[in-house]
Formats: sequence, C-alpha cells, structure tokens
Amino acid sequence: MNFIRFRSDSLCVENISALRLAKKYKTPFYCYSLAQLKNNFLRFNNIFKNIKPIICFSVKSNSNLTLLRELRKIGSGADVVSIGELLKAIKVGINSKKIVFSGVGKTEEEISKAVKKKILLINVESESEAILINKVSKKLSKKTSIGIRLNPNISGNTHKKISTGSKNEKFGLLYGDCINLCKKIQKMKNLKLEGLSVHIGSQITNIKPFKNMLSTLDKLIKRIKIDFKFIDLGGGMGISYSNKEKKLNLKKYSKLVEKFMKNKNAKIIFEPGRVIVGNAGLLISKILYIKKSADKKFIILDAGMNDLMRPALYNAKHQIMPLKKTSKRLAGNIEFVGPICESSDKFYNQKGFVKVKEGDYVGLTHVGAYGMSLSSNYNIRPTAAEVMVTGSNHKLIRKRQSLENLLKN
Ligand SMILES: Cc1ncc(COP(=O)(O)O)c(C=O)c1O
Repeated sequence: MNFIRFRSDSLCVENISALRLAKKYKTPFYCYSLAQLKNNFLRFNNIFKNIKPIICFSVKSNSNLTLLRELRKIGSGADVVSIGELLKAIKVGINSKKIVFSGVGKTEEEISKAVKKKILLINVESESEAILINKVSKKLSKKTSIGIRLNPNISGNTHKKISTGSKNEKFGLLYGDCINLCKKIQKMKNLKLEGLSVHIGSQITNIKPFKNMLSTLDKLIKRIKIDFKFIDLGGGMGISYSNKEKKLNLKKYSKLVEKFMKNKNAKIIFEPGRVIVGNAGLLISKILYIKKSADKKFIILDAGMNDLMRPALYNAKHQIMPLKKTSKRLAGNIEFVGPICESSDKFYNQKGFVKVKEGDYVGLTHVGAYGMSLSSNYNIRPTAAEVMVTGSNHKLIRKRQSLENLLKN
C-alpha cells in the first residue's frame, strides 16, 4: 500500500495534497507519512511472525525523535552506531534490552555509556574492542552482553559503497578470526558472549546473498558449538525506488530464516532501516530557475546535495514528481540539479517532464531513509525541516535549522 501517491492529478501524502504542504512550510523540507511508516513496520513484523524476531530499527537511516517514538510505540527496538543514536533511542523510551550497538570504531566513552545502560548487545568487531569492553565492564563492576560480528565474505551485489560483507571491507571478523575471538572472549570474565551478528550491506534486492549468509552462519555455529542466545541478521533488505525496480522478496527471506532456525533456540534480531522508512518520505522542493544550456534544460531546485546526499554519494536515483500533473510536456533532455557549487549536485536526468515553471514545486520520492540523516550544512545551508502527516493532519517535527545558529563559528 502506498500512502504517498497521486490522487487524480495531485501528489498527496495520505489525505493532504503535497502542494498544500509546500505552501505552508518553507522549502526544501522532508515530509513523512505516519501510516506508511507504521504499515511498513507492521508488515515486516507480520511476514516474520513465525520466528517472532526482535526488530531493532536502524537509527542511522532516520533519527527523527517523533518518528523513533512512533516506532517504539508499535514495538520497535533500535540498532545504533554512536553515542548520539544510543541517547536518542533511550530518550524516546526504547527499552535498553531492545538496543544493539554496532560499528567498527566505538570509543571508550561510547562503550562506557552502553555498558552502564545494560543494552541487549554490543556487537564487537575486533579483538581490541572486546578487550576494551571487558576492561570498561570490569571498572564498572558489570558483566556485559556482547555479540560478535561475522564478516562472512559475501557480496550483497549492491552498490560498492553500501556493501559491508566482503573480506576486503572493514566490518566484522573473518570466519577463522571470529572463531578464535569467540574462544578468547569466553575467557574474559566481564563479558557474556550471547550473540552472533552479521550485516552484509544495504539495498540488497536479491535473495541469494542472504541465503549464502545464512548457510555461512549455520556452518560457523555447528563448528564452534556455542549456544548463542541471539542471532542478529542485520538489515539490508532492498526496496524499489521506482515501479521498474525489483525489491527483496521478504516472504522468501522469512522462509529461509524459518528453515535456518530449525533446531536452534536462539532469538532472531533484525536491524532494518530502509525497508521501514524508505518509501515513507518525500522531499518537497521549489524550482528556482529553469535554464536552457546546449542540449539540455537544467531545472534548478532549492534542495541540494546537502539536503539529499544519496544521488551524489551512491548515484542513487530518486524519482521526481510534479505536485500537480498536467498533460502538457516540457520536451528535451531535462536535468534536475541543486544550488550547491559542486558538479555532483544533481538528482536526475530524464527525457521530458510534465510542464513546470519557475516557482512550481516538485517532490523527490523514497527519501525517508538516509535522506535527512545524511544531510549536512555544506555551503552554510541550514538543514531542512521535517513534517509528519497523519490522515488529514500535519505537524512540524523538526524545525528548519536557523541561519543564526550556523553563523556562530
Ligand atoms: C550494522 C547495520 N545494521 C543495519 C543497517 C541498516 O541497513 P538497511 O537500512 O539497509 O536495512 C546498517 C546500514 O548500513 C548497518 O550498518
């Protein structure tokens, strides 16, 4: 079910026309459909209902407090990768026993906070990190639950900048190293080795890498004979960014996980981000100028790569929609670009577009994940506002950053 869609010729977020929102809030701004967010979470939960997983929403994909609070209300935990994300998860009331902490470079301060908060698992990515967690735990007189992150040397067949499961990547421990570290950890007095974790990348649309990942985990578990309490399968489930694109078949994935779980007592953890929030977001932007040049027309938006980094960083393609459809067309090669002084500040190329003019608005779709959370102040541009829509109501859930704030340093 799509909650951001055209109703006759108006692009709508639930029951509100995006044009109405564009006239109310200063562009560019992010806008989310709460129904879409909840629907995605509950659908995910339902597809995996036979294995009753702990779902730890990946806070890096979107860390807006209102959004996190809504997810907490419907049962979500949190996957965090920094002290900031950890504190946000706690602030919205997520139970610390539903928080997992991953990342190759956790600082002593971050570890200390996670140990004190007694979170579900700190997922260890190196021997030195395990030693440090043990030391910090000893100092605090705690016995800390940890997971160990396997690097299964499996490519997710996804964009190379969001691929984390191959042996040349910095993430996790290779098979042999993982086994050796498990043995060492079992001798560390202030650690409890409770989890085995893995995350092979993001936006994976093919089931095969997940299948290979599960069989590597199976092999490892049989070899080391540790009765892990938790098996954390990470996130990575791919979505379709346009009608033509394939998405991961979650039902097939759930069948594979059910099979994998036969004869195991562990609890499954998932860390989904994109599949929960990706299609729940729309970035609304105003057309500043239309400029003809050589063989194309540049449509210059007031949203730039500082607001939505994914196209510049990963060549990601976000569909751009007019807020009002008409049958009139703008012909020729059209390139949507931002105002930033970088030639990579471009969003989309296409042949023709609905006839638009300067001052009109457009919406960039599927920007809920890694949109706002990757935004920056580059070119001294304030970060965008965020708006939440539910039914026929809308509210500001993050103010646009003030320029004064940016002028302080
Ligand atoms: C450790 C870890 N878990 C979960 C995720 C979330 O991934 P996705 O948004 O693709 O589900 C990421 C993102 O890269 C990650 O690094």
